[in-house]
Amino acid sequence: MHKAMARPWLLPFGLVALLASVAQAAIVEHTFNVGNLSISQLCQPARIITAVNGQLPGPTIKAREGDTVVVHLVNLSPYNMTIHWHGVFQRGTPWADGPAMVTQCPVKPGGNYTYRFNVTDQEGTLWWHAHISFLRATVYGALVIRPRAGAKAYPFPKPHREETVILGEWWNANVYDLERMAFMTAMPAVHADAYTINGKPGDFYNCSDANQTYKFQVRQNERILLRIINAALNTPLFFKVANHSFTVVGADAAYTTPYATDVVAIAPGQTVDALMVAGATAAGGRYYMAASPYDSAVPNGPPFSQTTATAVVEYAGSPSTPPVLPPMPAYNDTATAFRFFSNLTALVLPGKPTVPLAADVHMFVTVGLGVSDCMPDQLLCNRSTTHFSSSMNNASFVLPKSVSMLQAHYAGDDTAAGVYTRDFPDAPPVIFDYTADASDNATMQYTAKSTKVRTLRFNETVEMVLQNTRLIAKESHPMHLHGFNFFVLAQGFGNYDAATAVPKFNLVNPQERNTIAVPTGGWAVIRFVANNPGMWFMHCHFDAHLDLGLAMVFEVQNGPTAETSVPPPPRDLPKC
Ligand code: C2O
Repeated sequence: MHKAMARPWLLPFGLVALLASVAQAAIVEHTFNVGNLSISQLCQPARIITAVNGQLPGPTIKAREGDTVVVHLVNLSPYNMTIHWHGVFQRGTPWADGPAMVTQCPVKPGGNYTYRFNVTDQEGTLWWHAHISFLRATVYGALVIRPRAGAKAYPFPKPHREETVILGEWWNANVYDLERMAFMTAMPAVHADAYTINGKPGDFYNCSDANQTYKFQVRQNERILLRIINAALNTPLFFKVANHSFTVVGADAAYTTPYATDVVAIAPGQTVDALMVAGATAAGGRYYMAASPYDSAVPNGPPFSQTTATAVVEYAGSPSTPPVLPPMPAYNDTATAFRFFSNLTALVLPGKPTVPLAADVHMFVTVGLGVSDCMPDQLLCNRSTTHFSSSMNNASFVLPKSVSMLQAHYAGDDTAAGVYTRDFPDAPPVIFDYTADASDNATMQYTAKSTKVRTLRFNETVEMVLQNTRLIAKESHPMHLHGFNFFVLAQGFGNYDAATAVPKFNLVNPQERNTIAVPTGGWAVIRFVANNPGMWFMHCHFDAHLDLGLAMVFEVQNGPTAETSVPPPPRDLPKC
């Protein structure tokens, strides 16, 4: 895209400002030493986790729009490793995206790999995480993209301070072993022992160590930009601060129309930027920030931790009185979650991409649970019965083992043919009453394992209806697309009905996202332009479901020029 088109607010300042801002594009360079960290949580004996630079969460990457980010990954851990830059478009750098076996083979223990990419045409809060096994439980951090220097600043009142708030999950267990056991036995992994805020569970767990509560120091009347990230593996969360409310100004690094609320709903993979004014006047000056689970499964899904993570927002000079706890929504409060998710709209800025008004490719894709037979490499799987599985359009996705999908794509059709097939369907194999209890039978639940992609021509516009099913359970699946943002045209409950939904499409200011929490027992309609050649994973951002096959891959073909084609792989690309 033409620079002046993409950054229209530079125009009033003329060419001088444009050149100045281009000149200021910087290289933001980090070394990520991934290795063992000994840490004690929840008053348990110290345990060894995998972490970046000995930190939990890992380091925050701070960049400005247009900067180049260079991260040297040094794998000192005993596990294969990759890092994904969640929400970064990776235009022209598909080899840096990071999902294991989709865009690269893992970095082996003792190995290293340098990720290089630009953060162009996107501003706000993104994050990074391991994209292999369940290791992102402890290998994650924030990626903050501020407006470029010399450009117009935020399209909202300037905050006095910015705070990153990363919500996570913690297991009193080795998460790599958990994933191996779940996979080998084809049984669901146990739920987390705690939720965390900036790595710490807070005061409401059975442990009184003051070190385990994160504190935010604020001054009266400060306007604070909270950059909230849900890095939890499997749990959407409600987020509140006692006696405070928020103005949401961004989500998934796309600006939103200011939206006032006292509760944020955030699914794994999503980010929310919210302004909070420190204007509370209740005595004491100490308030809990809290994150509690939103469990959308109907009927009841697997058990989850019914606990609340807390941090403390402490006003300068306040006495150390006990903080106030905000009343949290009920665990199954779908109405509150849906209100938040569906009320967001984009802040339309001149020159920013707008929703495509028509689509070249129409897909209707069921997302949900099912059952499968044991796979050959699930060595501890009971072969006399079927097991919990998940799928998109009844195709349960399996990663290839010998070569990454992007390498196979780059090598050409002969190699690709042995690694994946181009038959991901545009509709489910059977049309049925997707959300009816009566549909939940063994025949409908059955799904086979495969590695299917949907091939797109460069620049095709895709419309996808994501339809959740009642098979096993309805549940709000956070569907994440790599390589693109998409626009959310509409969402609702029950079976998608074009006759009633299409007239309600928001074609004016639909929210732009990289992860959509498809309503439980409902649907969402998204559109995106396939302007980025490469292999792009689309999957449920619950790791428990990703592992079971709730995924597919878009293969986007090259455009007409070198700039619109997949470049050769970097020399240090890891080998399998
Ligand atoms: Cu944040 Cu494929 O993931």
